[in-house]
Amino acid sequence: MDQKKPTVATFRKRKAAGEKIVMITAYDATGAAAALAAGIDILLVGDSMAMTALGYENTLPLGMDEAIYHTMAVRRGAHDAFIIFDMPFMSYQVSDEEALRNAGRAVKEGGADAVKLEGGAELNPLIAKLVGAGIPVMAHIGLLPQKVMTSGGYHLTGKTDDAVRRLLDDARSVEAAGAFSVVLECMPSHVGKEISAALAIPAIGIGSGPDCDGQVQVLNDVLGLFEAFTPKHSRRYAEVGKIIRQALSEYAGDVRGGKFPGPENCFK
Ligand code: KIV
Repeated sequence: MDQKKPTVATFRKRKAAGEKIVMITAYDATGAAAALAAGIDILLVGDSMAMTALGYENTLPLGMDEAIYHTMAVRRGAHDAFIIFDMPFMSYQVSDEEALRNAGRAVKEGGADAVKLEGGAELNPLIAKLVGAGIPVMAHIGLLPQKVMTSGGYHLTGKTDDAVRRLLDDARSVEAAGAFSVVLECMPSHVGKEISAALAIPAIGIGSGPDCDGQVQVLNDVLGLFEAFTPKHSRRYAEVGKIIRQALSEYAGDVRGGKFPGPENCFK
């Protein structure tokens, strides 16, 4: 791991050197500090916070103010981290002017180092404007959770030759527009491999196979905080949800049974 805070140039060099890039979502200061201490390269203040942290059914209701509030907390917990702000649904679709203003807020108020946008070639003019204004952009192609209402669900992408060609075109065009990296979400492994190989910028996969230049996962999935099911693209590295429940039920039992507080917890 680099000693000093990474920049967009660091990630391009990592790709050129064949070194994998590790990215995880972070939504608060505690999670951010733990991820940084664990040597994670990039913290994504994902709009998945709508579901993982705020209890919404999908990512669509998240607003700019909520996302900035959480980004500020992530920055406070991880001063030296490279932090990406995931632009919320409808914060960049209305006009490029509004998108620039919102991305500017993410950097100036939230302390983000870059922004992420869901979409392909249609976003090229906006990507160029953001980069021109000095804001690094991570693109995001494949499964786009913000388009769940038009796609009708969360589906694997790149299933036909035509769809693979469109994904490749999108990836190449966001790179040409100035994106410093691109997320590839939920596509067959051979497609993730082909797109990663076709680009000079790092392609960060989620559900897109082992040959992407890096991987991103949702913190709650890898910690076992989301217990309803484990998405196929994820792996649980801990059962934190169970540990929390067990600790809290012991605490409740101790209070009810008169075992807490003990003498060591009391002041004289
Ligand atoms: O919001 C998020 O967590 C994301 C990742 C899944 C890439 O966009």
